[in-house]
Amino acid sequence: MRAATHDRYGGSDVVTIADIAEPAIADNQLLVAVHASSVTTADWRLRASAFPGGLWLAGRLMTGLFRPRNCILGMEFSGVVARTGPNVTRFAPGDALFGNAGSGAHAEYLAIDEDAALAAKPPALSHAEAASLPFGAVTALVFLRDFAKLQSGQRVLIIGASGGVGVHAVRIARHLGARVTGVTSTDNVALVRELGADRVVDYRKEKLNDIGETFDLVFDTAGIVRFAEARRLLNVNGLFLPLEFGIGDLLTALWCAITRSGQRIGLHVSGDAQADVEAIAELAATGALKPVIDSRYPLAEIRKAHERVETRHKRGSVIVDVRPDEEAHGAA
Ligand SMILES: NC(=O)c1ccc[n+]([C@@H]2O[C@H](COP(=O)([O-])OP(=O)(O)OC[C@H]3O[C@@H](n4cnc5c(N)ncnc54)[C@H](OP(=O)(O)O)[C@@H]3O)[C@@H](O)[C@H]2O)c1
Repeated sequence: MRAATHDRYGGSDVVTIADIAEPAIADNQLLVAVHASSVTTADWRLRASAFPGGLWLAGRLMTGLFRPRNCILGMEFSGVVARTGPNVTRFAPGDALFGNAGSGAHAEYLAIDEDAALAAKPPALSHAEAASLPFGAVTALVFLRDFAKLQSGQRVLIIGASGGVGVHAVRIARHLGARVTGVTSTDNVALVRELGADRVVDYRKEKLNDIGETFDLVFDTAGIVRFAEARRLLNVNGLFLPLEFGIGDLLTALWCAITRSGQRIGLHVSGDAQADVEAIAELAATGALKPVIDSRYPLAEIRKAHERVETRHKRGSVIVDVRPDEEAHGAA
C-alpha cells in the first residue's frame, strides 16, 4: 500500500511516499481503507519535533530521542472497513467510520482497535468532511464541556477562533449556550461570525487589552497569551485554558493551586474516547457542528499539506485525499 512515511525529524521534505506492506490486524482490530485524512498541528509537531514551552526533551522521550519511533503520521481518518479480526463484534466490512487513530492514517490502510476513538460516519458528510472533525472538535468538546464545565449564559473568549480547534470551539460553546467572543485576523472575521460568534475581535485592528469586557473563560488555541495577560481578561473567578503550554505554565498552575487564587489556569491534554467521537458525530448530524476545510491535497502532495499547517494560519482543517479517485480533490 502507499503511505506517507518519515524516518527523521525535520521540514516537510522528510516526508516521502513509500510502498509498504498493509498492516496486519489483531483479533480485536479493524482494517480500514482510508479515504481521507488530514494533517493536524499535532502531525506537524511530531514530524518537526516542534514541542512548545521547553518541553522538547519530554516530547522526544515520548516520540523517539534521535529518530521517530512511529514512521507513519496521521491521526484523523474517514474510511470504510475492509476486514475485521475474529473478536470484532460491532463493525463489519463495508461500514463507513471516522475517528482519531492517533497515528497511521496517512496510508491507504489503517489497523485500529474496534473500541478506539471512532464512530459511524454521519451519512450526510463526505469522507473529507468527516476526517476534518475528530482532532479539533473532540478537543473543543472536551476542553469546553469537561475541563471548563462551560454553562449556559457564561461568557467565553476564544483566541484563534478560525483554526483547527477554534472553529469547533465557537460552535460547541454556542451549543452549550455560552456568549462567544472570537479572536481572529481580518480575513477570517466573516467566517467566525458565520460560525455563530456573538462578537468577533480582529486582532490586527484591536488589542486584546482594549476589548473592554471580561470573561468566565479564556480559551487560547493560538498560544499567544500567558496567564499574567489572561488575568486582565478574566472575571474574578475566571478560568484560563491554554491549548499550548510549557514548563512556565506548569509552575504558574502550581502557584495558583497553592495560593488558592480566584482566577485559575487549567492545563490539560485532550483524550481520545469513543464516546466523544460518537458525541461529535451526533452534533455533526444535527448541524450543531460544521466541517470547515481549509484546503485539500492528494496523498502524493502531502508535503504541501504539512507546509500549509505549519503557517499556523489555516482555517479549520487541511485534508489529505488518500483515495482521490473516490473523493474529488482541489480547493474546498
Ligand atoms: N492540549 C491539547 O490536548 C491539544 C489538543 C489539540 C491541539 N493542541 C494544540 O493547540 C494548538 C492549536 O491547534 P489548531 O489546530 O487549532 O491550530 P491552527 O489551526 O494552526 O490555528 C491557529 C490559530 O491561531 C490564530 N493566530 C495566529 N496568530 C495569532 C495571533 N497573533 N493572535 C491571535 N490569533 C492568532 C490563527 O488565526 P489567523 O489565521 O486568523 O491568524 C488560527 O486561528 C496547537 O499548538 C496544538 O498543538 C493541544
